[in-house]
Parts: sequence; structure tokens; C-alpha cells
Amino acid sequence: MRVTKIACIGAGYVGGPTMSVIAQKNPHIQVTVVDLNKARIDSWNAHDLNEIPIYEPGLAEVVGEARGRNLFFSTDVDGAIREADLIFISVNTPTKTYGKGKGQAADLKFIELCARQIADVAQSNKIIVEKSTIPVRTAATIKNILDNTGQGVQFQVLSNPEFLAEGTAIQDLHHPDRILIGGEDPEAIAALKAVYEAWVPSERIITTNLWSSELSKLVANAFLAQRVSSINSISELCEVTGANVEEVAHAIGQDSRIGSKFLKASVGFGGSCFQKDLLNLVYIARSYNLHEVANYWEQVILLNDHQKIRFAEKIINSMYNTVNGKKIAFMGWAFKKNTNDTRESAAIYVADHLLEEQAQLTVYDPKVSAIQMYKDLDALGNRSPEENRALLKVVNDPMEAAKDAHGLAILTEWDEFKSLDWMQIKTVMKKPAFIFDGRKLLDAEEMKALGFIYYAIGEKH
Ligand code: UDX
Ligand code: ADP
Repeated sequence: MRVTKIACIGAGYVGGPTMSVIAQKNPHIQVTVVDLNKARIDSWNAHDLNEIPIYEPGLAEVVGEARGRNLFFSTDVDGAIREADLIFISVNTPTKTYGKGKGQAADLKFIELCARQIADVAQSNKIIVEKSTIPVRTAATIKNILDNTGQGVQFQVLSNPEFLAEGTAIQDLHHPDRILIGGEDPEAIAALKAVYEAWVPSERIITTNLWSSELSKLVANAFLAQRVSSINSISELCEVTGANVEEVAHAIGQDSRIGSKFLKASVGFGGSCFQKDLLNLVYIARSYNLHEVANYWEQVILLNDHQKIRFAEKIINSMYNTVNGKKIAFMGWAFKKNTNDTRESAAIYVADHLLEEQAQLTVYDPKVSAIQMYKDLDALGNRSPEENRALLKVVNDPMEAAKDAHGLAILTEWDEFKSLDWMQIKTVMKKPAFIFDGRKLLDAEEMKALGFIYYAIGEKH
């Protein structure tokens, strides 16, 4: 079977970039990305490629190449389903905020709605591919809905999790470490494999059974997050003993069995995946009564929460135990550099903690909008929207953020922060001028020589 028409339901961080690259590399396949959110689809269709809804280095070029040729963005979900031979489901699977599994389990209502809609509309055989991160055995649910509510057509369900990281999405999609396809039907697997073989060497395409594929996605993220929590736990120990966490990370990372990646101590991991997938893993383990397994992975999240609060407390304690009415500049709001995504960003929680202490925050982030920052804070529900706007200001210029600030905190490792005029920043800040480097981005000796009181994660002060 040869795929000629692909539909993707969900034009978000996963669906948008992934389909753009699939279309770029398969000019003979028509790829239609659909979403219920009209505003989102309109921005994917924006004439000015700077206005597409997701910022990813290289993405605008890929969209520019394929859009209108064989890549289309539309709100006609039914139409796209009807035409496609292969349908990716890339809708969001947030952590449940209600009922059983609240705060832990993945909310599968969007997945179920998609499955029902596909069953309702499809008039020819189709391959359905789970792209969204989902709990193990979701494929069975999808298959069940399709087979019981469909109109007698054949559905093959595959799992094909996405491993791209934000900020490097296009690079990751162009040169994936591996593509994982889980499924039972050899023909369906071969059809999807052929789509990727347009640019990925076959030996990098791993095929497994459905459940292994679904579980591998959760486990990959859990392992990566666990490395960050492991090094963050050591950062606290370094701060009291005089060891330097960067030196420790380098020394252990040289052991090829450990490896050097994901050992950068930070103010805490964020992003849409790590916490959600860990919670999900914990929930699944508990639902099988595997409490030791659940507790083990839960600790990765608890340590991450501790790291964020510890950083905020360090700011308060260093600034003479009060930040009430003091201006603190925030450099960065995104959960990591080179993205405008703020989901679960450590900055939100550090800000919230400082605002509880009545600090006055002024935030500069090169890519995140003020609207998004207020949305993030309002969503916590700890203060009224008016209070959040009174206590937190958003500016477009780092120097303005620093002006008259008692302290400056680095929350995101944007490259441009390294080359700021730190001498000038020192001049415009109140004295003593504190820097709290949550990303270990700056050079400690240089900052101290400029006269800052400089604190970095994982270094004795
Ligand atoms: C992650 C996985 O890497 C990706 O494979 C999966 O598909 C989705 O989840 P992403 O969330 O985009 O990707 O970002 P990632 O680069 O993994 O970083 C996650 C968080 O960990 C960020 O907040 C980052 O700043 C933090 N981090 C990462 C560290 O604090 N230290 C590190 O060494 C690495
Ligand atoms: P992810 O990071 O997993 O891509 P996003 O939230 O960025 O998640 O994107 C998911 C997208 O899926 C959203 O734009 C949302 O509007 C869309 N979506 C959710 N349910 C449906 C549905 N039933 N039909 C079409 N689009 C949907």
C-alpha cells in the first residue's frame, strides 16, 4: 500500500512541525493539517512566514517550501479525514484536571473525540497513527471505538511517538536518532515506514509491538527528566560543599556509560512533556499496584519542584530575607531557549513564589508575549488578574528590565543574555546588585569582578 494523502488532526507543537517536514520530504504526498482552532489555522496560513504560530529555528523555511504545494492547513476536519489514507492524531493529551486520576492521568477526551469523528466520517480503509503521547494501551481504546462505531471500513492502528525537542524540532525531524513504529499489521507498518524512508535511513526505523512503542515514549522522557533531577539534586550538594556542579557533570559525563547529555543543572525542567509523562507513568504504575515503581518516578518530579522553590528562596534569603516592593528583573520566561513555549516553565513557579512575597517583577524574554506570561500566572489562580498585572511588568528591552532592579534572575538560557552589556547593567541596577543565575549561563569570575553579588545553581557562594 502506498500512501498518497495524509491528514493530521491537531496543528500544535507536534503536528505542525512534523507534518511540515513530512510534506517537505515527500512532495508526492498531499499532507493536510487540520485543527478546530481557526485562529491557529489562520496563522499557519499567514502570508508572512514570521507569523506562523510556532517559533522553531528553520520551521518557517520548511513551511515556505511546502505550503500550497503539498502542505495545507485547514479547519475542515471531516474533509481531511474522508480523503486521507493515513491519519495522524496529534491532539493534546493534558494531565486530567478533574475526576479520577486528577493531576496525574492523561486526559484522553480529545483522542476519543478524534477516534469517534474518524469512525463517523471515514468511508474507506485507513491507517490511524497515534502521534500524541498517550498512556500504554490507548491504541486498544482507539481501535475499539473505530471498530464499534465505524461504517464497516478497516482501520489499522499504529503508534509512532514523536521524540523531537522544542527549539531543535526541525534539526531533530531532519536527523532523528530513531523513528519508532509500533503496530501489528505488517502492511500498515510498511506504508508508514515508506513515508519516513524518504529521508531517514531504514536502519534508524525501529518497529515494535504497539505497547512497547507507547511505553517507550513515556520511558524516554522519564529517563531524560530523571537525569536532570539527578544532576539538580547534586547541584544543591555542590552549593554546600564547594564542589562545582559543572565540573562534576563534566567529569561523570566523560564515562561513556553515563554520557554527557542532559547533565546541565538548572532552575528545573519545564516543557509540555517531562512532568506530564512522569505523572502518567506514576499513575499507570499505581494503577497496577506497583507502588515502589510509582514512588521512584514520582521523586523525579518532587525534586524538580524542590529545585524551583529552592531557587526562589535563595533569591529571597540573599536579598536580606525580604523582596517586598523590590524590583527583580527576570531574564527569560520560556521553558528553554529558542522556543516561545512556556508550558510548565520554571519561570512561572519562581515568579509565583516571589509574587507571594510581594516582589515587583519585570520580565524580558525575546520570544514570549506579555499575554502569554499573564495567562500562565492567571492559570495558577493564586492572585487576581489585576494583581498579577500590577506586580509583574513585561518589557522589550533587557536594560529596561534591569533598571533600578535590586536583583536579576536568569530563568532561560537564551544566548543573547551572554552578550548583554553587563557593566552597563551593573550601573543601572540598585546596589548591591544581585544576580541569580538559574542556568549557569554567565562567567562567575567575570560577574564578581564587575561587582555583582553573583549566585549560580550548583556553585558555593
Ligand atoms: C522533551 C524530549 O527531549 C523530547 O524527546 C520529547 O519529544 C519531548 O520532551 P522538550 O520538552 O522540548 O523535549 O525539551 P528538552 O530539551 O528535553 O528540555 C526539557 C527541560 O529540561 C527544559 O526545561 C530544559 O531547560 C531542561 N533541561 C534539559 C535541563 O535543565 N538540563 C539539561 O541538561 C537538559
Ligand atoms: P502538542 O504539543 O501535543 O502538539 P498542542 O496543544 O500544541 O499539543 O496542539 C494540539 C492541537 O490539537 C490544538 O491546536 C487543538 O486545538 C487541536 N485539537 C484538539 N482536539 C481536536 C479535534 N478533535 N479536532 C481537531 N483539532 C483538535
